[in-house]
Amino acid sequence: MTPSVSRAIVAKYRDVAARPCGHFKYPVGRRSALRLGYRPAWLAPIPRDVVARFVGVGNPFTLKRPARGSRVLDVGCGCGMDAFIAAQLAGPRGRVSGLDLTPEMLARARRAGKRFPGTEFLEGTVEALPFERASFDLVISNGVLNLAPDKDAAYREIRRVLRPGGVLAAADLLVVETLPPQTLASMDAWSS
Ligand SMILES: C[S@@+](CC[C@H](N)C(=O)[O-])C[C@H]1O[C@@H](n2cnc3c(N)ncnc32)[C@H](O)[C@@H]1O
Repeated sequence: MTPSVSRAIVAKYRDVAARPCGHFKYPVGRRSALRLGYRPAWLAPIPRDVVARFVGVGNPFTLKRPARGSRVLDVGCGCGMDAFIAAQLAGPRGRVSGLDLTPEMLARARRAGKRFPGTEFLEGTVEALPFERASFDLVISNGVLNLAPDKDAAYREIRRVLRPGGVLAAADLLVVETLPPQTLASMDAWSS
């Protein structure tokens, strides 16, 4: 990832970790999660500050739910809401790793993670995942891959850490038009 894009993203999400409102054109937090079909029972055990900082763009669990005992990676986990839902679905023999670029988002996830055995949170980038090949049955991601400037590297890495037959369940934003040069040159656009 280019250093300037990385700096812009970390600066933005440091602010989101402090104050989640006012940064996005789409809804965030608990109301957004309920609208996207997250079950209230999944949200109930998760600390309120984490749910308030849910800034995903969809619901990856509508695509695939972790099997009991499965190994799950949430790339770009933010404050960890999806990772904690994955931990509930994977059960006590499951294992969930969350990875994110922004230390301030991870700090909240790690604090809340004390309530969820079998979870861990690591700092890193999706373009260079700090895991052995075939480490996971399921990779989930919510609103993250659009932020990765090197998408080939991101997908290559996800494929490397998935076991053969493993699944990527990703919710994301897609560009469907050619973007104007001023947008392509805007750090704000790269980090939104
Ligand atoms: C829109 S937020 C989504 C957070 C979380 N998935 C959620 O649904 O609330 C994007 C997250 O991706 C992280 N991020 C952005 N680029 C990343 C990259 N290349 N590798 C890992 N994390 C990244 C940001 O730090 C931020 O926490």
